[in-house]
Amino acid sequence: MKRCRRYVCLAALTALVLIFLSACGKKQGTGDIRIGVAVYDEYDTFVSELTEAFLADVAEVNAVGTNAPVSVVRYNAAQSQITQNEQVEQMISKGCSVICVNLVDRTDPSMIIEMAREADVPVIFFNRELVEEDLMSWNRLYYVGADAFESGRIQGRTAAAYIKEHPETDRNGDGVIQYVVLEGEAGHQDAIVRSETSVDALIEEGIQIEKLESAIANWNRAQARNRMEQMIETYGEGVELVLANNDDMALGAADACDSREIPEEERPAIIGIDGTKVGLEGVRNGKLIGTVYNDKEGQARAMLQLALAAATGEGMEDLPLTDGKYIRLPYSEITLDNISRLGEEAP
Ligand code: BGC
Repeated sequence: MKRCRRYVCLAALTALVLIFLSACGKKQGTGDIRIGVAVYDEYDTFVSELTEAFLADVAEVNAVGTNAPVSVVRYNAAQSQITQNEQVEQMISKGCSVICVNLVDRTDPSMIIEMAREADVPVIFFNRELVEEDLMSWNRLYYVGADAFESGRIQGRTAAAYIKEHPETDRNGDGVIQYVVLEGEAGHQDAIVRSETSVDALIEEGIQIEKLESAIANWNRAQARNRMEQMIETYGEGVELVLANNDDMALGAADACDSREIPEEERPAIIGIDGTKVGLEGVRNGKLIGTVYNDKEGQARAMLQLALAAATGEGMEDLPLTDGKYIRLPYSEITLDNISRLGEEAP
């Protein structure tokens, strides 16, 4: 089923691209489309997998063999907004016809918007969502991502279903699940929303819960391991559930249990979000009770379709844009149960 959907999407992408490229060839003579991609940190697991998926789609488009190649110029801001602003300036001067930006500081896109507007180069922001007012400030700005509320909701419901099926999660048998939260970067739309919504969903599902602590680990596995080691020091076996804002931090929590040699039956249930390669592996080998698939393939495809449409001015009306600005891909639940059922076809 999933595989079919992927082929359908690829076929749609190829067809769309052929139309764009022939239109572009007619319009611009050379037909060459150069796309700039600027990421906030190339070592971020999810963002790097999203970039890989994007490059694979570009290769697929080029393999169609038209005379209008798509090329990509990539930059890593290494977590500095000042660096990213300079990179965008370079991309514009290198003649990029469209720029995809994964902002370092999602509250500070003003320089980028100003430069792009001056050069009349459209910008697709992705994954790190700018505020609506900034996105609306010019008609050639777009956003591709997902709905953070949905990811939190699915995480909470998945954890609740697991707890109902595994009453032993409540190890001290007090009828209440003692939990901790590992949060992504302060101020990131996904961190704020996921932490709240996941807990709300657990409560809606009728699970009695008690928060022991929440700790910021900046999406990072090593930081999450440190935070979790500290929590193990403080609460011992008292932590029964770990809600992590992403898979890397969930795996950091599992690393802490490994380093403290906590026996299998005394470990908390740990759940992540993303479905990265390592995250899915964590579900398969039982370190995580589940994750929430953050559709990087869908986001990459939407970015490329939108980039080609924005660069050529053709096909914009065929894209599923909300308010003419947003494309958000849905999340989905991943547990050991559906990974094994989907087998090879799992994402
Ligand atoms: C992902 C995280 C990632 C972050 C980067 C989130 O949507 O879930 O894994 O680190 O985006 O901006």
